[in-house]
Amino acid sequence: MARKKIALIGSGQIGGVFVQLAAARELADIVLFDILEGVPQGKALDIMEASPAAGHDIHVQGTNRYEDIEGSDLVIVTAGLARKPGMSRDDLVTTNSRIMRSAAVAIRENAPDAHVIVISNPLDVMVTLCHRITGFPKNRVMGMAGILDSARFAAFVAMELQVSVKDVHTLVLGGHGDDMVPLIRYANVNGIPVMYLLEKKYGAEKAMEVMSEIVKRTRYAGGEIVGLLKTGSAFYSPATSAMAMAEAILKDQKRVLPVCALLEGEYGVNGYFAGVPCVVGANGVEQIIELELNREERTMFDESVSHVKAMVDNLSL
Ligand code: APR
Repeated sequence: MARKKIALIGSGQIGGVFVQLAAARELADIVLFDILEGVPQGKALDIMEASPAAGHDIHVQGTNRYEDIEGSDLVIVTAGLARKPGMSRDDLVTTNSRIMRSAAVAIRENAPDAHVIVISNPLDVMVTLCHRITGFPKNRVMGMAGILDSARFAAFVAMELQVSVKDVHTLVLGGHGDDMVPLIRYANVNGIPVMYLLEKKYGAEKAMEVMSEIVKRTRYAGGEIVGLLKTGSAFYSPATSAMAMAEAILKDQKRVLPVCALLEGEYGVNGYFAGVPCVVGANGVEQIIELELNREERTMFDESVSHVKAMVDNLSL
């Protein structure tokens, strides 16, 4: 059986971490594409030279030619500017839209059968552009945000409760902006509601305060990292989150993951992308799982999606 092939459009920080994760798992051969001459070639060669010591065996090619992504099973788009301190994800829209347009045309022409995972920000707008320009079926175009936002939520819960992150399960829905929707009701530690554990630790009133702080930190977690790094945005956690999606697709895992998917009536939204729980397997987004949201969750979700709609409706497509 032929090896799988992944193309990374954008070989910056996230692209670089992703290729290292993929090599360690021997997930697929990789093509690293970038407009910068030398950077994808240099990273590819560096990984190839790491392989003997690491004992992994995949082929990694660096390129500035879009023709080299031909035959990819999966294309991951990280091309674009990353945030600097003081910027919101939305501030990237003009530049990154231009970059996404060229990437999407190239994907349509060179890898027409690929699944596409978009990571570039502002995510909900970029994935919409990618879907509309490629014209690919909706199951094959998805955005990576929910896994990252949920992982951040889980990390903060685990730090607070001093339990293993392995046992913490969380879900964040909506757009990948500061108004994302961490679902408190669904957060649990191996089935035990997080709120129950916080209440045991602190009593009901303080527990709610602690949870509000965790929710706030989750919403601004990307900005917290930007503020610390000063020269760019998070890359370990986005690359690792994209890896979960890539493995789910290439290994047909049928994982239940929060994914930025095109909604056509689900959650009362029609024609817009938003983060929702999905079954992800060899056919990409194979199923969208609709949760019953309570009034408070519904209001937050609608607000988050209305922000996505405003951004998308402003685009000339
Ligand atoms: N085609 C291909 N690659 C491009 C293009 C283009 N038209 N324009 C820019 N790039 C490349 C840059 O040369 C750079 O190598 O995209 C890469 C982006 O890498 P980084 O600046 O290191 O950014 P990274 O941290 O990887 O984040 C990428 O993901 O999370 C989002 O907000 C983040 O939009 C940003 C994206």
